[in-house]
Amino acid sequence: MAPRPHYPDTVHYRGLNRPTHIEATAHDLYVEGEIPRDIDGAFFRAVHDPAYVPMRDDDVVLSRDGMIGKVEFRDGRVNCAIRYVQTERFLAEQKAGRGLFGRYRNPFTDDPSVAGVDRTVANTTPYYHAGRLFMSKEDGLPYRVDPTSLKTLGRWNYGGTLRSLTLTAHPKIDPDTGELFLFGYEADGLASPTIAYCIISPQGELVSEQWFDAPYCAMMHDFAITKDHAIFTVYPTKADLLRLKEGGPHWIHDPEGESFIGIMPRHGEVTEMVWFKGPPGVHSYHVMNAWSEGSKVHLDQCMASTNLIPFIASDSGIAGPPQGGLTRWTMDLADPGAGITERPLGPFGEMPLIAHADTGKDYRRGWYLTVDPARMTHLANGPGDFAFNLLVRVGFPDGALSFYGEGAGYSFNEPVLVPAVDPDHGGWLLMMVDRVIAPGYIAQEVWILDADDIERGPVAKVEMPFRTCGQVHGTWVPRHLLDQARGD
Ligand SMILES: [Fe+2]
Repeated sequence: MAPRPHYPDTVHYRGLNRPTHIEATAHDLYVEGEIPRDIDGAFFRAVHDPAYVPMRDDDVVLSRDGMIGKVEFRDGRVNCAIRYVQTERFLAEQKAGRGLFGRYRNPFTDDPSVAGVDRTVANTTPYYHAGRLFMSKEDGLPYRVDPTSLKTLGRWNYGGTLRSLTLTAHPKIDPDTGELFLFGYEADGLASPTIAYCIISPQGELVSEQWFDAPYCAMMHDFAITKDHAIFTVYPTKADLLRLKEGGPHWIHDPEGESFIGIMPRHGEVTEMVWFKGPPGVHSYHVMNAWSEGSKVHLDQCMASTNLIPFIASDSGIAGPPQGGLTRWTMDLADPGAGITERPLGPFGEMPLIAHADTGKDYRRGWYLTVDPARMTHLANGPGDFAFNLLVRVGFPDGALSFYGEGAGYSFNEPVLVPAVDPDHGGWLLMMVDRVIAPGYIAQEVWILDADDIERGPVAKVEMPFRTCGQVHGTWVPRHLLDQARGD
């Protein structure tokens, strides 16, 4: 079969989603302003950019090949690079010179030549643990990438000791112990309710993998840890094997479906899980943070009244904009029957961020992205046709909110936080900003903001010498950890 000539004319391929096919490096980028001395290390970014025209016109950005981008800071100078993650799927399509994979997360729609080939595209989150850099996506195992060359080193399964077929793209590293906490859903196959809960030692060895069943097979995109607990969230975006076999969508959101929060001691047994019932029909993609306070567990999430992703809402027959906001749920393990107490924290938004050192603890600062409705940025970006253009800071315990935006024409991507040497300073945010400079033309800059004074705007900007597609998640790796990268 000859390759199809054109990318589909849909939101998934226009604007910032227009594929670039660029793998490149560049050095000594142009810098406006002065880069704070605290910033020494690498900002890794997951970017989705398909190498080949897909088999189907209904393909979506979530299926596109992962690229790993790096913006590296040292002594006030900045270099950058971007490279495809050479997954099994990427290599199979490269060999054939065309797209071979069908509908998003539905292997029953693939070209028969790729039966059994790993379908994950490793396009969601870069993370770094025990001297190893990974690119992840929740429908498969992570791929290891060399942090210097960005060369793909292969799929990672902890030396064959891991049983789960999947791992989350939102792992949690305890900032004090260095342990890595992971889970995989659909751990033993498509549309299965089986969850694998895994703990990796600070040295990078799998020390624990326990399996349990969720109440049903749900899209479990994120989870949380505290010093004492692991927290699993089950919202009613559901998979069904028969629907997949019939060529249908992986996910349908059930507006009447029950939601659950499962809490267990983080070093305990999965049989100790306590389930709390949440409101029906709700959904959350991302957790900001969680912590334990005696028998109480607090969970801060970007809550929504339904699944936010437009193609999933559409497949589910759900119309109208979602409602919601940054929300704190509190659950008391001493009284599970009392249910969940809810406290609103901030406006509707997504892509929450905290300082890594605050993971699992009561905390003073968080940040996330939202949309300035008065000055919308209409730009195909990820699965939607508009972009985040307003940065929010939330301060605790008072809940004070502050904002920074540029309005129409600007698109903000999830920032990373670089800690400051001064322990009283919240550090620096590094944020990739996409800026529409003419119809169809987009410039990109990394903006550096004072994390405690976002209203001041960027203190420095780094000009990117080439465009990339939209960023999903990013991570900051400081120099002292990059220097510990291992070759094994
Ligand atoms: Fe995510």
